[in-house]
Amino acid sequence: MTSPKIEVDDLKKHFKSNEDLFTRLFGWGEIEYVKAVDGVSFEIEEGESFGLAGESGCGKTTCGKSLLHLHEPTSGTVSFDGQDITDPAVRDEMDFRTEAQIIQQNPYESINPRYRVFDWVKEPLDVHGIGSEEERENTVIETIESVGLNPAEAYMHEYPSELSGGERQRVSIARAIILEPSFILADEPASMLDVSVRASILDLLDRLQDELGISILYISHDLSLLKHMCDRIGIMYLGKLVEVGPATQVINDPQHPYTKALVGSTPTIDPDDEREAAELKGDIPDPVNLPSGCRFAPRCPEATDECTVEEPPMYDTGDDQQARCILYDEEQKQTISE
Ligand SMILES: Nc1ncnc2c1ncn2[C@@H]1O[C@H](COP(=O)(O)OP(=O)(O)O)[C@@H](O)[C@H]1O
Ligand SMILES: [Mg+2]
Repeated sequence: MTSPKIEVDDLKKHFKSNEDLFTRLFGWGEIEYVKAVDGVSFEIEEGESFGLAGESGCGKTTCGKSLLHLHEPTSGTVSFDGQDITDPAVRDEMDFRTEAQIIQQNPYESINPRYRVFDWVKEPLDVHGIGSEEERENTVIETIESVGLNPAEAYMHEYPSELSGGERQRVSIARAIILEPSFILADEPASMLDVSVRASILDLLDRLQDELGISILYISHDLSLLKHMCDRIGIMYLGKLVEVGPATQVINDPQHPYTKALVGSTPTIDPDDEREAAELKGDIPDPVNLPSGCRFAPRCPEATDECTVEEPPMYDTGDDQQARCILYDEEQKQTISE
């Protein structure tokens, strides 16, 4: 059996939250931690697109960056092609920095303003010493054209300030694919762009994924985007996955009360859909002081006293779908029906 492209197991990233002067200098007070990612596990198969969804601040970006080792994880493991990349020696050995790339949310910040397009796209080839100078130049021109900046000649001498948001995001994509990675993390790749160009950027990513056979992790708060782009999705709430499954299935037939509320609060997904919309009540709790038991319980319309006792595990709810909710506990079901 082949191993998945990526296997994330119980990944955690906790940030220190209250490093005030006294705590730092004298160790006064108790250090508190923001549990941005608090035990996340999922797999991405070769060539698969997996989506991470959830409200702003639930830990999607931190999860993606910890997976790529742009943040040092607090604990947990990430395997890439079956090898544990939490070990720096393994990352060096497999040339992880060429195999995995990121496309960031904000194309106005992610490109160095002092670079011309040509040099920005070429830099990874220079850094990794790939090909002769002439080969590099040809590869850069081909890559710039493959992301729809045609002819390359019209764009390659420009500075980012001379480009539109959509063109900048194409430049970021060119730089991300130039080393022929096998995995890309696309963090809200279209959310900062004008609505009119979003679809074309997503179509470009879709086409490149097909052509290059890459695995992609899409991060977005936009469920309709993920439904369109992804094979499977995971729904995150306060640093933890609460539901995982095939994208269409999770969105059309959500099992976890949080996913139901999230889908219900997204008006545009499917006009024919008459499912009743569950309201999300209250505010998201503070990721420093998490509620006991199920972290969604304080906002959950279906919560019982039982829910605050223990954090529920993931339960299979059928057809490759799982939900972290005690409603799917067989024993619990019996107690409720008795
Ligand atoms: N570098 C950091 N230091 C401290 N807290 C952080 C840092 N990065 C993110 N956080 C906190 O972690 C939580 C998750 O943030 P993030 O991963 O950016 O969420 P999302 O991408 O889902 O919007 C938030 O509470 C955020 O304030
Ligand atoms: Mg984010």
